[in-house]
Amino acid sequence: MLEPTIAGRAPIAIDVEAGKTYYWCSCGRSSTQPFCSGAHQDSGFEPIAYVAERTGRVYFCACKQSAKKPLCDGTHKTLPLPIAVASGSS
Ligand code: FES
Repeated sequence: MLEPTIAGRAPIAIDVEAGKTYYWCSCGRSSTQPFCSGAHQDSGFEPIAYVAERTGRVYFCACKQSAKKPLCDGTHKTLPLPIAVASGSS
């Protein structure tokens, strides 16, 4: 099964407008997080459309693991920590 790239480890707050459609990045490759930039080409992922029900702030998932995609459900708090990269000291 394909795994998305973790684009961030905390949700991204966006002020949305009622009735407007937003295309959430599901692959994690987009440079315009949390939204699609077209970077999913050939990744096996497609953006997910989100239509704002009301004007206000919503929290989009950046870790791409939420069960309530495209919105954050707190799953990012359960992700394992990234592996530290050696600083090159020798
Ligand atoms: S950022 Fe993905 S669940 Fe919170």
